[in-house]
Amino acid sequence: MPLQINKTIAAIPVYPAASTYAFGGLLAKLASNESPFSPHPAVAEAITAAGHNVNRYPDPTGTALREKLASKYDMAEEQIVLGNGSCEILLAAAQVMLEPGAEIVYAWPSFSMYPHLAAMTGATAVEVPLTEDHRHDLPAMLAAVNERTRIVIICNPNNPTGTFVEHAEIERFIRDLPRDVCVIVDEAYIEFVKDAVRDRLLPTAIDHDNVVITRTFAKVYGLAGLRVGYAFASPHFKQVVDVVRQPFSVNMIAQVAAAEALNHVDDVTQRVFGTLAERDWVESELHGLGLPTADTQANFSWIDLGGRDEQAIVDGLAREGVIVRAGSALGAEGYLRVSYGTHEENERFIGALGGLLG
Ligand SMILES: Cc1ncc(COP(=O)(O)O)c(C=O)c1O
Repeated sequence: MPLQINKTIAAIPVYPAASTYAFGGLLAKLASNESPFSPHPAVAEAITAAGHNVNRYPDPTGTALREKLASKYDMAEEQIVLGNGSCEILLAAAQVMLEPGAEIVYAWPSFSMYPHLAAMTGATAVEVPLTEDHRHDLPAMLAAVNERTRIVIICNPNNPTGTFVEHAEIERFIRDLPRDVCVIVDEAYIEFVKDAVRDRLLPTAIDHDNVVITRTFAKVYGLAGLRVGYAFASPHFKQVVDVVRQPFSVNMIAQVAAAEALNHVDDVTQRVFGTLAERDWVESELHGLGLPTADTQANFSWIDLGGRDEQAIVDGLAREGVIVRAGSALGAEGYLRVSYGTHEENERFIGALGGLLG
């Protein structure tokens, strides 16, 4: 007899894993927007050293890491929330604010986790289509907010399109919203945005208690395998999300590695510059193949296949050992989302794609 599952839980969409296919050689994994580079050597050393202490539980408050983040961004320590990946912070926020009858507004296509937040709580997902040029439609999102809205998410840059909303636009949007609606600005890819905005915080993150900015060590810091994310939020938000999480959710090794990674900002900057160069190269090659792309500010491209068979291309690339994401798994058929790897991996991707397009 099958297990009896809570009806709300049974309705949750399964997070789509990228397929890796049976390929004999080295795979170019360009499906999950990870860093293709190992962490900084000092981070790897800190991880090894921390391995000797794992007979103890981690610091449940993550004090050392929160102190470092607070000082880097000139925030109070009580405004820094850590999570087992920024996903954990999103899940906890949904758990404490959503329920049947409540609404969550986000753009679509966007991060595949957002529909999950509504489904797992029984809340209603209000998905506001991106504009023709794959950008957030903030006026339409504002119009979608009503007295049932508890959370609005802006993914900036947006996954899977990579498009970026200027800070001034977000500021205006936030100021027009009722203050009891939580605005989550998901900045998982913010370090990849060109120009000076890269690391700056929205002013409303400091003076508006309803604003939460989530970020992660998974992407530019190369620590995806350790699961550590953080948020800038009000002490009240921190207090309520802590209630629903297990006490030691960010493990000891993750805390130590993330704290050490913050000692190597120059290395991070170099990686960003490397990724930006790859972005320029991949995008210009794609345009050379006649494929339009969204205006990405992230570490991936969103490619319009112009009516070609998406699955045939994904399968063809996989046969060459290049793993990418099909748009249909991300909310829009006829597209590919491809993360930037090393230059060799990117060349393999472009070569294989060119071959398939004939
Ligand atoms: C927009 C967005 N937010 C959050 C995350 C999750 O990050 P983390 O690994 O910190 O949970 C991802 C991961 O792909 C993402 O694309």
